[in-house]
Amino acid sequence: MAAFAVTVLLFLPIFSAAAISDQYVNFTSFSIQDSPWRVDQNRVLVSPGGSFAAGFRPLPTSPHLFLFAVWYRQSNETIVWAMNRDSPVSNSSSLVFSKDGKLILSPTTISVNATASSNSTKLVLEETGGLQFDSWTSFDDPMDTILPGQTLPSINLVARRSLADYRSGFYNLVNWTSLSFYDEKYGNIDKGPLTNLTSDGLLKAKTGDYYLADFGENDTLRRLTLDPDGNLRVYSMNPANGRWFIVWRLIPNLCRVPGLCGLNSICMSDVDDQVSCVCPPGFRRTAGSRCEPIINITAPAETRFLQLDFVNFTKGLNPNVTSAPTLSNCETGCLDQPSCRGFVYQFDGSGYCAHLEQLLEGRWSPGTLTAAYIRVSKRENAITNFTGLTELVNTTCPVRLLLPEAPDMSNPRNRNLAIVCCFFALELLGAMAFFWTFIRRHTHYRESAGNLGLDQLPLRRFTLAELTAATDDFSHEIGSGGFGTVYKGELPDHRVVAVKRLKFSSRCSSDAEFWAEAAIIARLHHLNLVRLWGFCAEKGQRLLVYEYVPNGSLNKFLFPAAVREQGVAEAPMLDWSTRYRIAIGVARAIAYLHEECREWVLHCDIKPENILLENDFCPKVSDFGLAKLATKADMVSMSGIRGTRGYLAPEWAGINPTITAKADVYSFGMVLLEIVCGIRNMEFQQSSMESCEWYLPKWAYEKACVEKKVEDILDPRLLQSYDCRQHSKIVDRMVKTAIWCLQDRPEMRPSMGKVAKMLEGTVDIVEPPQATIFFLGPSPSLSPLPGQKNSAPKTADA
Ligand SMILES: *[C@@H]1O[C@H](CO)[C@@H](O)[C@H](O)[C@H]1NC(C)=O
Ligand SMILES: *[C@@H]1O[C@H](CO)[C@@H](O)[C@H](O)[C@H]1NC(C)=O
Ligand SMILES: *[C@@H]1O[C@H](CO)[C@@H](O)[C@H](O)[C@H]1NC(C)=O
Ligand SMILES: *[C@@H]1O[C@H](CO)[C@@H](O)[C@H](O)[C@H]1NC(C)=O
Repeated sequence: MAAFAVTVLLFLPIFSAAAISDQYVNFTSFSIQDSPWRVDQNRVLVSPGGSFAAGFRPLPTSPHLFLFAVWYRQSNETIVWAMNRDSPVSNSSSLVFSKDGKLILSPTTISVNATASSNSTKLVLEETGGLQFDSWTSFDDPMDTILPGQTLPSINLVARRSLADYRSGFYNLVNWTSLSFYDEKYGNIDKGPLTNLTSDGLLKAKTGDYYLADFGENDTLRRLTLDPDGNLRVYSMNPANGRWFIVWRLIPNLCRVPGLCGLNSICMSDVDDQVSCVCPPGFRRTAGSRCEPIINITAPAETRFLQLDFVNFTKGLNPNVTSAPTLSNCETGCLDQPSCRGFVYQFDGSGYCAHLEQLLEGRWSPGTLTAAYIRVSKRENAITNFTGLTELVNTTCPVRLLLPEAPDMSNPRNRNLAIVCCFFALELLGAMAFFWTFIRRHTHYRESAGNLGLDQLPLRRFTLAELTAATDDFSHEIGSGGFGTVYKGELPDHRVVAVKRLKFSSRCSSDAEFWAEAAIIARLHHLNLVRLWGFCAEKGQRLLVYEYVPNGSLNKFLFPAAVREQGVAEAPMLDWSTRYRIAIGVARAIAYLHEECREWVLHCDIKPENILLENDFCPKVSDFGLAKLATKADMVSMSGIRGTRGYLAPEWAGINPTITAKADVYSFGMVLLEIVCGIRNMEFQQSSMESCEWYLPKWAYEKACVEKKVEDILDPRLLQSYDCRQHSKIVDRMVKTAIWCLQDRPEMRPSMGKVAKMLEGTVDIVEPPQATIFFLGPSPSLSPLPGQKNSAPKTADA
C-alpha cells in the first residue's frame, strides 16, 4: 500500500528567490511613457513601503509561461493576485497602454476593467497589495486571496488547482458564506457572510461577530486564502524569516473536504493539517489518488470481507439499506448482492448498516465507531492494518452491542415450541392491550411528534404522573446543578433512571421547540455520553430522563474530603490507569460533541460534577446539549455566563465574549489537571492563606515543566502507588496535555480531537508554553476573572 500525500506543502518555496531579486529592475509606477512592459525587461513595480511587488512571473511548472501577478517581496513564492491565472502568456508578451486608454495584456485580450481618463493615468501598486489603475483596483477581482482592508467584492474566491497550478480549481467560497466543491457544500461560515479581514487580524462577519485570527500588531502581514486543498485559512507572516504560519482555519478536520481522495482510497488527516490518501489492503494505487483492487473480483461468490476499523465511506451508499439488527445481517445482505462492494457498520448499538456500491469519500478517524468491510477476492491474502476498534470498545467501556440476538430456533423440540407459542399468544394479547391504551393516551403526541420525526427516535415521552410515580414524588435527590435538579427513579420495567428537572421557565420555549432540541440530544450516541431515554414536557415542567449511572460523579472520588463534610461515605481511591482511562473517555466524548456531530454542540459546563462513573469507572459525560435548551432569557438570568467558576475559560471575561469550542478545551484542561493533582483549583485558592496569587495551572507548570518535579503535583494520596517506570509516561502526557489546554489564548489550545490523540499517545506532545491567567485579546477589557483579584496582566510567551 503506497501512501499518496496530497501536496499541501504550505511553506515550500516553489520560485527561486535569488532569481527574482537579482535581475529585476524596480520602478514605482507604470505610465504611457513606459509602455509596452515586455516580459524580458525584467521590471517589477514595487509598493511605496516595499511590501508588495508586481510584474511578470514565470510559472513554477513551466518557466516559459508567465503570469502578470502581485506577490510579497518578503515571500515571493506567495502570489496574491494574477491578471491571467487561466491563460498564462509567453515571453514575447507585454503589458500595453493602448491609445484609447486601456491596459491590455498583449497578445491576449485580457485587460483591466477601466479606461484611463488622461494620458497621465498610471498603474500603481499600493502598500495594501492592490494594483490601482484609474477607477479600477485588483481588489475588485480577487483570485484565491484576500488582504487586510480589502473590500470584499460580490464575486467568489476560487482556489487554485494545486500549489503550483494557478488555474481556477473546483473549490469555491460562495457569497463569503460557504465552501463548495462543484455543487456540493462542505463548509459553512457560521457567523454569517464575511466582510473584512482587518489589519489587526480579525476576520469580521456581517453580523458584527468575528473570528480571531491572531493577536498580533497592525504591521504583521496577513492574508485569507482559499487553499488548493479546499480549506479557508488565515496566515500571518513571521517577520523574522518571512515564513507563513496558519492562525485560523475554517475546517478543523481536512478529510471533511470532499474530493481530496479518489475512488477506493481512504483519507487520513494528521495534526499538521495535511491529508494522505491511503489505499486499503488488497488495493494498489493507480492514477493520482485512486486505488484499484489487486485481484479483480470475477465471481461474487468467491469473495470475503476485509475489516477496516475506524473507517467510514460517506458516498456511494446504497440508499435502500440503512440499518441491520446485527453485523452478520448487514454482511449477508451485502454478500447476496453482486453489486455490493462492501458495507459500513457502526458499533454503538444503533444498528447503522450501509451497503456500498462504490467506495467513495472514505475517511479514517479514531473518533468514529464504524468499521468498513470491503469485498475482496477469496484469493487475496492481504492483512489489514486498520485495527483497534474492538480493543477500543473493550478498553473504553464494556461492549454493549444493545440488540439481543434473535432466539435460536434451529433445533426446537415440540415442548419448547408449545411454550413459545403460548408465550407468544400471551404477549400478543398484552401488547394489544398496551397498544390500545398507548394509542388513546398518545394520539395527540403522535400527531405533533410525527411532524418532528420524533417517532423515529428511541426517545420516549413520559407523562408527569409516570415520572412522579417513578421518582416517588421526586423524593430521592441525587444532585443539582446550573440546569436543574436530578432525582433517582425506577420505571415500571425496573430500569433505574436519573430524572433531571430543568429550571427553565415554561414561558420561554414551546413544547415543540423543546422536543426538537431533545431530539437532537437524543441523536448523540457515544459510549462516553450519558444516554437520554425520554422526556416530559407538561404543565410548565421540563424533565429529561437519562440512564442512571451508578457510581455518581467524579468529584466524589477526586475530592473526598469535601464530600466527607457533607456526610457521605468515603469513596475508593482511583488508581492511575483508571484516571487515565477516565481522561481519555471524557476527551473522546467531547471531541465527538465538537467534531463528529452534525449539530454543533458545545458543552459549556465541563467539571468533575458532570462526569459520571459507571460501576467499572467508565466515564460518562452528562449535561451536554443543555446549553442548547437554555433560551436567551435564561442565559441573561445567569448573567451571560454559563459554566462554573474555576472552570471558565479566560475569554468569558471579555465584554462580548466570543465563545468557541476552545472554551470547552480549557475547562477540560482544568479537570484533567485536577484528576492528576487531586486538588480543586477554586477550593485551594479559598482555603490557603497566601492564595491570591495561586493558580493551579501556573503552579503545575512551574513544578512539572520548569523544576521538572512532576512528583510534587501528583495526588499525594497516590504517591505510594506511583511507579515511575509504569506511570511516568501517562502522567507526563496528562500534565502536558492539560497545560496545552489551559493556554489563555483560545487559538493556542489544541482542538478536542487533538487532545484525545495527545492523551492516547498517537501524536507527540511539544513542550507547552507557560499558562497564564490573563487573556490579551483584541477587546479593551482586561478585567480579571472573578476570584482572581490582583496581579498584573501578563502576556503568554508564545
Ligand atoms: C494621449 O496622447 C496621444 C498622443 O501621444 C493623443 O493622441 C491622445 O489624444 C492623448 N489622450 C488624451 C486622453 O489626452
Ligand atoms: C475593515 O475593518 C476595519 C477595522 O474595523 C475598518 O477600519 C475598515 O474600514 C474595514 N474595511 C472594510 C472594507 O470594510
Ligand atoms: C458514516 O457516513 C454516513 C454517510 O455520510 C453518515 O450518515 C454516518 O453518520 C457516518 N458515521 C459516522 C460514525 O461518522
Ligand atoms: C496501513 O499501512 C499503510 C502503509 O504502510 C499506511 O499508510 C496506513 O496509514 C496504515 N493504516 C493505519 C490505519 O495505520
